[in-house]
Amino acid sequence: MRATVLLSSICALALGVSIVHAGLYEQELTSAEEAGPRQPISFSHKLHAGELKIDCLYCHGAAEKSQAATVPAVSVCMGCHEHVKQRQTGSAAELEASAAEIAKIHAYYERGESIPWVRIHNLPEHVQFKHFKHVQAGLECQKCHGPVETMNRVYLVPDTQNTARTFYLPSAKLEMGWCMECHLDRAGPDDCAACHY
Ligand code: HEC
Ligand code: HEC
Ligand code: HEC
Ligand code: HEC
Ligand code: HEC
Repeated sequence: MRATVLLSSICALALGVSIVHAGLYEQELTSAEEAGPRQPISFSHKLHAGELKIDCLYCHGAAEKSQAATVPAVSVCMGCHEHVKQRQTGSAAELEASAAEIAKIHAYYERGESIPWVRIHNLPEHVQFKHFKHVQAGLECQKCHGPVETMNRVYLVPDTQNTARTFYLPSAKLEMGWCMECHLDRAGPDDCAACHY
């Protein structure tokens, strides 16, 4: 009897630790965020772009100049994480999980590998979309991507939730109607050849 109690409390302890290790913020995800893919490192926009207020263009600077916005190279992370090896405050378990997650960045960097981030937005091949044209026209990232700075995990709105759509927020399909809705409103092109060539 006592052995069982002891065993189950050890299990609970082990379980508690493994939940923390499953991902830094896994327990805090909203149901919308759950729809986004799990990434190889628990990178949080809510922490970096929200709390630390790092500019979107610090990591996605290509959005201003090129077709693709691209995700940052490991060296961009290392610019800070060579020194920042865990978060400043938290419980012992949180600090440990934080250090373990940041150690993954160091490991990719030392192996000379890029982090295999799972792609979220992806238009079909037959559609042309250039970030710089849109960013230079003064559109905020959030107009198309939603409030990324509040997201622990980036997601696309599932199509089923898109009946009462938030204006401009793309659904999982990035449909043609989504592009056109804004183009009609803001004098973007509506001829087929502008987007398909
Ligand atoms: C410290 C670096 C950093 C900052 C600052 C940052 N991002 Fe990111 N962003 C990333 C990384 C790394 C990924 C890939 C992992 C992920 O999806 O969370 C990413 C992914 C994304 C994606 C999804 C890409 C895809 O696969 O479709 C969008 C959209 C995005 N960021 C927008 C923003 C916006 C908008 C801001 C500013 C509010 C911002 N980011 C600030 C590093 C950053
Ligand atoms: C401009 C500096 C800066 C850059 C660039 C940066 N980070 Fe961070 N990051 C921080 C700071 C500061 C913290 C610790 C925040 C705290 O103490 O709460 C942190 C914390 C983290 C954590 C731990 C979060 C937690 O909850 O404990 C992870 C994981 C992380 N960053 C991943 C990344 C990745 C991946 C990149 C590159 C895409 C990146 N960071 C780029 C400054 C940066
Ligand atoms: C007019 C809408 C729009 C605006 C404004 C916009 N994006 Fe995007 N973004 C998209 C679309 C559409 C895709 C998918 C592109 C593809 O698959 O070719 C995308 C893809 C991305 C990706 C995935 C990687 C890539 O390059 O395809 C990132 C990261 C991203 N955007 C970040 C940003 C950031 C940061 C800003 C603001 C500086 C921004 N976006 C502004 C519509 C937009
Ligand atoms: C939030 C508003 C908005 C959304 C959403 C949007 N666009 Fe645009 N787009 C614009 C505006 C404004 C312009 C005009 C920019 C200019 O003329 O400088 C434009 C211009 C363009 C152009 C012509 C410029 C160029 O790249 O050669 C193409 C092509 C284009 N958009 C494709 C798309 C596609 C494809 C999508 C959907 C995946 C999309 N846009 C979604 C606002 C938007
Ligand atoms: C503003 C950009 C834009 C313009 C203008 C545009 N399209 Fe599209 N089109 C898209 C996007 C984005 C998709 C991908 C949608 C998807 O996969 O659901 C698409 C998809 C399509 C498809 C494939 C549909 C499928 O189910 O795979 C066809 C066919 C098409 N467009 C025809 C046209 C014709 C014809 C016109 C002119 C009347 C036109 N498009 C104008 C952005 C545009």
